[in-house]
Amino acid sequence: MGTALTDHFGRTATDLRLSVTDRCDLRCTYCMPAEGLPWLPRPELLTDDEMVRLAAIAVGRLGVTEVRLTGGEPLIRPGLVGIMASLAALRPRPSISVTTNATALERLAGPLAEAGLDRVNVSLDTLDPETFKTLTRRDRHERVLAGIEAAARAGLRPVKINTVLMRGINDHEAPALLRWCLERGYELRFIEQMPLDAQHGWDRKLMVTAQEILDSLGAHFRLEPRSAADRGAAPAETWLVDGGPEAPGGGRVGVIASVTRPFCAACDRTRLTADGQVRTCLFAREETDLRGLLRGGADDEAIARAWRTAMLGKKAAAGIGEPGFVQPQRSMSAIGG
Ligand code: GTP
Ligand code: 5AD
Ligand code: SF4
Repeated sequence: MGTALTDHFGRTATDLRLSVTDRCDLRCTYCMPAEGLPWLPRPELLTDDEMVRLAAIAVGRLGVTEVRLTGGEPLIRPGLVGIMASLAALRPRPSISVTTNATALERLAGPLAEAGLDRVNVSLDTLDPETFKTLTRRDRHERVLAGIEAAARAGLRPVKINTVLMRGINDHEAPALLRWCLERGYELRFIEQMPLDAQHGWDRKLMVTAQEILDSLGAHFRLEPRSAADRGAAPAETWLVDGGPEAPGGGRVGVIASVTRPFCAACDRTRLTADGQVRTCLFAREETDLRGLLRGGADDEAIARAWRTAMLGKKAAAGIGEPGFVQPQRSMSAIGG
């Protein structure tokens, strides 16, 4: 067995998505119920040191070059700035990013950037404060917008904005959201909704598809597809908008079409949940317990070996919504998106 995280289909994972908490301060209707979820008990969460040790093994022994911190909402983890500094001290230094809802970003963008954070992706589904309130069940739209601005000011670029469109709720906002992002130099990506909600309410027929999104944007903007080579292993397919970033008023837009145009064949990801379980895919049925190994006294190489073995169980494709598809036991917020 080599040193890298290679699976049976020849894919190699170089991108680690590390969930630092399963909790969140918002209650997006497409993610979790109003009362929240049965959160992981504290003793089951990796400590800061345990998290950094596993990341160090991934970077030092397994060829991981990018680390993305996810949640729940990662910014509510108390020790996050310290974790960031430790990740930035790893060698070879990985690129480090965070996916956040931005409610705490106004306060944390500066300290996180200083500690070593390179860039952020922010979830923003609407420009309308009332729709935000309905969608997230919290009145924090203004704080989120301030957080996004703070990120750009702190040099966390490119700032990417993630938008999940929902029929009859915010799907009419696609062109306005794109205009808003173009004006500010943010890169917007629209996401097809996936069956990862805790309530199991996903319905393919209700999902706004990539094609619908492109049609609605095409009525307002000139879109040119970028080459497949520009995409690499990124989930987002991107288009140049109105002449691209070099043109006045132009930019880029992305669509993450996990359901209608799956990109599993190019997947370069491995995931670690906040309680120390390796998941080879968002939609995996199995997990590999690294926390148990770590707390049982295993050395770094034994942990690295278990992680490599886990990768051999990675399926060729998630097959979302296809016959035989089963939604994973954990929901998005507990897996880490
Ligand atoms: P960059 O391209 O590195 O900026 O990040 P990203 O788009 O991969 O990460 P982000 O956390 O912003 O995720 C955007 C959307 O892509 C979310 O809805 C994720 O759940 C989804 N996503 C991330 N990784 C995967 C994956 O491996 N498979 C699928 N199907 N969706 C993914
Ligand atoms: N399908 C697709 N994307 C989702 N997100 C949350 N739930 C889903 C879902 N069911 C998005 C969030 C955030 C990112 C991590 O994933 O809006 O931007
Ligand atoms: Fe929180 Fe993200 Fe789920 Fe919204 S989608 S409730 S921000 S974890």
